[in-house]
Amino acid sequence: MTRMAQLIKQFSLLPHPEGGYFRENYRSSGEIKSTSLDSNYKGSRNYSTAIYFLLTSDTFSAFHKINQDEIWHFYEGSPIRLFTISEKGVLSEHLIGSDFNNGQLPQLVVPGTHWFAAEILDPNSYAFVGCTVAPGFDFADFVLAERESLSVEFPQHSDLIHRLTRIDA
Ligand code: GUN
Repeated sequence: MTRMAQLIKQFSLLPHPEGGYFRENYRSSGEIKSTSLDSNYKGSRNYSTAIYFLLTSDTFSAFHKINQDEIWHFYEGSPIRLFTISEKGVLSEHLIGSDFNNGQLPQLVVPGTHWFAAEILDPNSYAFVGCTVAPGFDFADFVLAERESLSVEFPQHSDLIHRLTRIDA
């Protein structure tokens, strides 16, 4: 069995709509009432959640956004290149990995409301990471980008958006 298949089995990972595989490993029992959250949240949310996430080189994490900051934690495998696009259209590129002397980070904070997408650097490889958020994750806050509408919003990044989206709308 490949290491990738082993991780999928060991941590019971399932396909994620953005690409890759995931399993939620933590969801706090405490809840934040919607009256204490900003108006982007429709309803209450758990204090915090954490997932395991495995991305493989035959796919990518497609551009998506959530309301809250998301912290990525590197565990093993290939470095990841992660792109963010701010609401003003500023594109940033980050490396997540263990080669700290060459610009790779063990933790990366993706700001809430920024569009973001990720891909594996090494061919025929995978990356195993964690993603934590507070308030806790809810698919109601998760928006997968539509290729054409995001390209129209940010035409200066259209090539990248075309490469790292799947929804043809
Ligand atoms: N739970 C399910 N999907 C996700 C995700 O994309 N990010 C985080 N942090 N938690 C999730």
